[in-house]
Amino acid sequence: MTNNSSPINQEIRDIFNSIAPVYDQLNDWLSLGQHRIWKAMTVKWSAAKPGNTCLDLCCGSGDIAFELARTVKQTGKVYGVDFSCNLLATAKERAQQQHIQTPITWIEADVLNLPFTENQFDAITMGYGLRNVKDIPRALQEMYRVLKPSGKAAILDFHRPPNPIFRNFQQWYLDNIVVPMATNLGVKDEYAYISPSLDRFPIGKEQISIAHQVGFVNATHYPIANGMMGVLVLNKK
Ligand SMILES: C[S@@+](CC[C@H](N)C(=O)[O-])C[C@H]1O[C@@H](n2cnc3c(N)ncnc32)[C@H](O)[C@@H]1O
Repeated sequence: MTNNSSPINQEIRDIFNSIAPVYDQLNDWLSLGQHRIWKAMTVKWSAAKPGNTCLDLCCGSGDIAFELARTVKQTGKVYGVDFSCNLLATAKERAQQQHIQTPITWIEADVLNLPFTENQFDAITMGYGLRNVKDIPRALQEMYRVLKPSGKAAILDFHRPPNPIFRNFQQWYLDNIVVPMATNLGVKDEYAYISPSLDRFPIGKEQISIAHQVGFVNATHYPIANGMMGVLVLNKK
């Protein structure tokens, strides 16, 4: 189901396949556990409810899909989509360890070409994925297509803070904490990639404008962690 013909896509997929063994450990250290709070906030903003059918895009090792599963309970359903087979394997293993009762279906696919028909999902989440896709408007367009008419999407990612103090702090943290720690674990290049990807990533206002262009009626960007992260919340109608 994966459409990985583009070399850029393949390069990004290789990066995520190679960091799979250390990914969860690094997330906890680098954010001092805060990523768990930000992911829980993202699920709240998606307005997922018990009994809903939800989709977590770029699900990686599954954190947000698990939070969605706890929210929609056993009467709901969750789908996790990612193009890294190694991270999907980790997600499946973790779901078993956590004894999650909600049905979760893991799908290896490109989020730019979702293997679903229109209007299927009550809520969609995406954590730290949008910055990595090669075509942001196309990713949002795919979300719009598969969301039910009243559905919501909540998209969590890094963000360049407008305040120069926090901006400098973020860059210092990436250069002096993130990259050295990743170097120790043998995945330097993969984490050195965050800073340039963040430079190319549209800021909140620009994300809103792209969302409107693909058809979302309401779009709001909530800055979190002093603007170093953000959640883009989108309403189909
Ligand atoms: C930084 S990880 C985030 C994982 C997880 N959402 C989390 O927050 O822990 C980004 C994920 O996006 C996936 N990804 C990037 N581009 C993708 C694409 N075009 N299609 C599917 N998955 C993609 C990667 O394989 C990786 O698992």
